[in-house]
Amino acid sequence: MPEHTHELLVIGAGPAGYVAAIRAAQLGIDTAIVDKEKQLGGTCLRVGCIPSKALLESSHKYEDAKDNFFAHGIEVSSVDLNLKAMMKRKDKVVKTLTTGVAGLMKKNKVKVYQGTATFNSDKSVAIGKDTVKAKHVLIATGSVPSSIPGVNLDDPLIDTSTDALDYDKVPEHLAVIGAGVIGLELGSVWRRLGSKVTVIEYLDRIMPGMDEELATAAHKAFKSQGVEFMLGCAVQGVSSGKDGVTIEIKDAGPVKADRVLVSVGRKPNTEGLGLDKIGITPNRRGQIEVNGKFETGVDGVYAVGDVVPGPMLAHKAEEEGIACMEMIATGHGHIDYNTIPSIVYTHPEIASVGKSEQELSEQGIEYKKGSFPFLANGRARANDDTEGWVKVLADAATDRVLGVHIIGDSAGDLIAECATAMAFAASSEDIARACHAHPTLSEAVKEAALGVSGRSIHI
Ligand code: NAI
Repeated sequence: MPEHTHELLVIGAGPAGYVAAIRAAQLGIDTAIVDKEKQLGGTCLRVGCIPSKALLESSHKYEDAKDNFFAHGIEVSSVDLNLKAMMKRKDKVVKTLTTGVAGLMKKNKVKVYQGTATFNSDKSVAIGKDTVKAKHVLIATGSVPSSIPGVNLDDPLIDTSTDALDYDKVPEHLAVIGAGVIGLELGSVWRRLGSKVTVIEYLDRIMPGMDEELATAAHKAFKSQGVEFMLGCAVQGVSSGKDGVTIEIKDAGPVKADRVLVSVGRKPNTEGLGLDKIGITPNRRGQIEVNGKFETGVDGVYAVGDVVPGPMLAHKAEEEGIACMEMIATGHGHIDYNTIPSIVYTHPEIASVGKSEQELSEQGIEYKKGSFPFLANGRARANDDTEGWVKVLADAATDRVLGVHIIGDSAGDLIAECATAMAFAASSEDIARACHAHPTLSEAVKEAALGVSGRSIHI
């Protein structure tokens, strides 16, 4: 049995793991990384963030060409979908980026192992026939789709997000269980490509956890695009036959569709790790509990990313990976959980950072609010894309920005300024007084910040 020794072994080469490995190498730590997949980059690069954004972009272009070009004076005689070519482009994007991660490992002299890692003991991990011994082991094994009782994800017509990134034909009727991020993003892709899409959601609203005004505006936008919503509907089971799928709903009639996408959340992936051998017991949600230094309680074993509590977001995972490595190497590391943005990459795009109005009210924090519609923004008018608004929430006493919520074109990029401002404890006055280039969509952020004190210029 070949034996190898490194100072650090990272298990899992997704955004949490591969970014941690690079930072560790930069800090002079002899680092190795292992992944069970040949392609590095984890769920995000292989079957998550990246391929879904590739398809969102392609399907948006397709819909634009079909429905919106004429408003710009561009007449296209016919617009045809070549799904095979669209999928091929998506696969190429994934290949380029995953190969890029392999290149980064090489550049940073991180040794890569391929195989499933299982703990022999806290300082020894088996990878196939190899044994890797390491002073520090970082668990960054991510998450996998979860399901609900009565729904078998192995059925060929009952799909996870991974399956819905690879359909070989556009389903006539796609049912989506769960109006969260995955359901709305992939539902948008297939609606744009021609599917009838029905989203079935347990709660009486979409995008649970996000600011209610934002969710209401998003719901209205998706409905006007033709997505059907069934809110307050608990799915109890799905069966499939030669005519498609039948979705059983509590206290309501069944829904029939060609296929169904199950997007009811994800669960931490700890299967096969042998955590019992080192005395780690996941909590009842399957997560590995850690302290502020990402220590698991087992000496030298750390965990970051989707496998630990907190939002399942690639950028949160990356920050944790970096902070954990800096703590190991220098004793210091930093992550501000209050300034982690959330983005839904639909059109209009939806982005949030900090607290929602509901959270502020629940916590008894008095706040002031400034809003600005893209309808009154020159660039949005020029782009012919005026849906949505920006909302800035600031502390009533100190004016410190507590939350920003945006729905509209490029919301995901606009939120970066707000997250940076919040990281520097900015006031709404700080954002309002900063010069924003004209004509840009970012002026809507400035105007909303001005609106906190009733000083918006263009409305
Ligand atoms: P989610 O947690 O965002 O939404 C799941 C939805 O399913 C909830 O609204 C829930 O109420 C509903 N649901 C649960 N059981 C149900 C039932 N029996 N019947 C009907 N509805 C039911 O989960 P999702 O969309 O699967 O995403 C998983 C994770 O991946 C999330 O943590 C998300 O943050 C992350 N992700 C993030 C993306 C981004 O940042 N843009 C993109 C894709 C995923």
